[in-house]
Amino acid sequence: MYDFDTTPDHRHNHSYRWDMADMPDDVIGMGTADLDYFCAPCIRDALIPIAEENCYNYRQRTDEYYDAVTGWYERNYGLHVRKEWISSVPSTIGAVRMALGIFAKPGDNVIVQTPVFQPLQWAVDGADCNLIPNPMRIVNGHYEIDFDDFERKIIETKPAAYLLVNPHNPTGRVFTRKELETLVSICAAHDVKIISDEVHGMIVYDGNEFTPLLAVNDKAKEIGIQVVSLSKGYNIMSLPHAIITIANEEMQRLWMRQIQAFSFGYATNSFSIQAVTTIMEGKADEWMKELTEYLKGNLDMILSFIKEHDLPLIPYKPEGSFLLWIDCRKAGIGDTALDKFFMEKAHIHLDDGEENFGPEGRGFIRINFAVTRKDLKEALGRILKAFAS
Ligand SMILES: Cc1ncc(COP(=O)(O)O)c(C=O)c1O
Repeated sequence: MYDFDTTPDHRHNHSYRWDMADMPDDVIGMGTADLDYFCAPCIRDALIPIAEENCYNYRQRTDEYYDAVTGWYERNYGLHVRKEWISSVPSTIGAVRMALGIFAKPGDNVIVQTPVFQPLQWAVDGADCNLIPNPMRIVNGHYEIDFDDFERKIIETKPAAYLLVNPHNPTGRVFTRKELETLVSICAAHDVKIISDEVHGMIVYDGNEFTPLLAVNDKAKEIGIQVVSLSKGYNIMSLPHAIITIANEEMQRLWMRQIQAFSFGYATNSFSIQAVTTIMEGKADEWMKELTEYLKGNLDMILSFIKEHDLPLIPYKPEGSFLLWIDCRKAGIGDTALDKFFMEKAHIHLDDGEENFGPEGRGFIRINFAVTRKDLKEALGRILKAFAS
């Protein structure tokens, strides 16, 4: 029903991925994690009346909004969320930073699985906390959590919080319920709060199931701060809106005190609220189903291409989202500034592993494959030529 083969002209719409001043005219943007596609038409339909009214007074979050959010969690994940547990702020990383300001003190430790998405490192740094890395292990070509290292570091460094990123960026892991139960049980035993960044949870492949933190068990509800945004799944990055769900009453009280302090109760965006309401009511469900199929087609195409041409690249097949993490260490192109290699040789903009995800990303690249099939074919052809030269 939906067309993912035609897109706006991102080379001229101020896109971070396609339209930076230093990019060549024929660049193919495969970096920054947004989607090239037009949004679900229901989003445009929901937003036009707001623009036509042309009045941007302070707006309440309506009953429809709260019903949409609670209904979405119930319908998709069997998670019963109460209206009083929900609040919103303009960005996911901002929510993480706020949570660290409330539930950790300057000087406290915060444990995170690495490689880590750099803005999360900045949020930890900005809260004057120390990031304790729990490096993921590669076991039989699959990224796994090192639970022994996790628990040992929790005992040794006594972190105030664990920053969970599920699905994980950049490895593409969608943690299983069992893995989440283990993480929750270790954190609960050692009095560590969990801040869960779930922005990548909407697109999952091949029978993998995404589980929001608060759906894991009652212990998770006691210690969890669940943060989601629809930006990644529905391409509404410039309608910023992160939804925070906290079930623990005392934690919710402390959180709402800061929502008031930042004035995020009043400071909201009528476009964001309306888009989120429409999506969470389920009006874009079919679009999401088709998007996931299209992305899966792109992913399969890249994986087969690498195999067929015997390229010196080791891809880690993501279980969700639209980012492919690739080990280039055997490619003979060095371990650092790999983005420069792809930009110079192929005019492709992608993300260097170390620069964007820390030391465990050295020698890796991350490719955003949410492009049209046509651009993907062109990009693969250019990569082949770059390696041939
Ligand atoms: C793990 C993770 N968290 C948060 C964000 C930013 O989310 P938002 O734009 O919804 O604030 C990103 C964007 O790439 C991300 O990968």
